Amino acid sequence: MATAQGMMLEVSALAKNFAGVAAVSDVSFGVSEGEIVSLIGPNGAGKTSVFNMITGFYSPDTGSIQYAGCELRGLEPFRIARLGVARTFQNLELFRDMTVEGNMQVACQCHSPISLGAAMFRSAAVRRRETEDAERIARLVDAVGLRQQLGSMASQLSYGAQRRLEIARAMATGARLLLLDEPTAGMSPAEVDEILDLAKKVRDSGVTILLIEHNMNLVMRVSDRIIVMDHGMKIADGEPAQIRRDARVRQAYLGTAG
Ligand SMILES: Nc1ncnc2c1ncn2[C@@H]1O[C@H](COP(=O)(O)OP(=O)(O)OP(=O)(O)O)[C@@H](O)[C@H]1O
Ligand SMILES: [Mg+2]
Repeated sequence: MATAQGMMLEVSALAKNFAGVAAVSDVSFGVSEGEIVSLIGPNGAGKTSVFNMITGFYSPDTGSIQYAGCELRGLEPFRIARLGVARTFQNLELFRDMTVEGNMQVACQCHSPISLGAAMFRSAAVRRRETEDAERIARLVDAVGLRQQLGSMASQLSYGAQRRLEIARAMATGARLLLLDEPTAGMSPAEVDEILDLAKKVRDSGVTILLIEHNMNLVMRVSDRIIVMDHGMKIADGEPAQIRRDARVRQAYLGTAG
């Protein structure tokens, strides 16, 4: 299937089973360039499994994942990352014993790797790259409000700041599509607002966002479109106002039996 004009990601008939449990069944959706799309649904609905398939951590049983005209299914995670798809994790994953700057430098390396030989001899090209990386890092830590903490250990940052560092690090890989898995889990309302502002800033810088989120207030305020999953299936897809009044969505969230 050809990717429609302006479509950044097109997931078709995606399915994944674990020992007979259908984590994801026949899920299809698209994300247009420049959109913020949220993927919501009750615990165990299959949201993270969808992210894991898009980013190559799980291999789908069936279906296809078209990204900017490329089939991602079957590619390894690092190749998908190099194509410009970056993610954060539901359970924060940072290099805790490295500084903020160190975490960012590792991610820049993913953006365009330097050969070992070139790195050892610090050629002019390598020095130029280091300058570019330093500029990129400065821009991104400014954007997430961590300029003053460049030298701090990741483990010493507040929880909200660690979450923001994880987003900046994902951006440093040169992401064009950013997948955020519950970036506000465990955050205070003020920290949630910072993530809201940050998501908008990231989108305005030209990056498309797919967001898994349980905070309905945030979802309703930030999303251009919302996709709802329940028991591995997509049950709704539409603008926030539509989703708010969708009977099937209400039922999934009220936990009605059956
Ligand atoms: N690696 C795995 N092995 C076995 N089962 C898995 C695996 N990953 C996911 N599952 C199962 O697939 C289903 C969907 O899980 P998933 O983590 O995708 O849900 P989720 O929507 O992200 O939920 P939550 O909101 O709790 O994070 C669950 O039943 C889960 O137990
Ligand atoms: Mg999850």
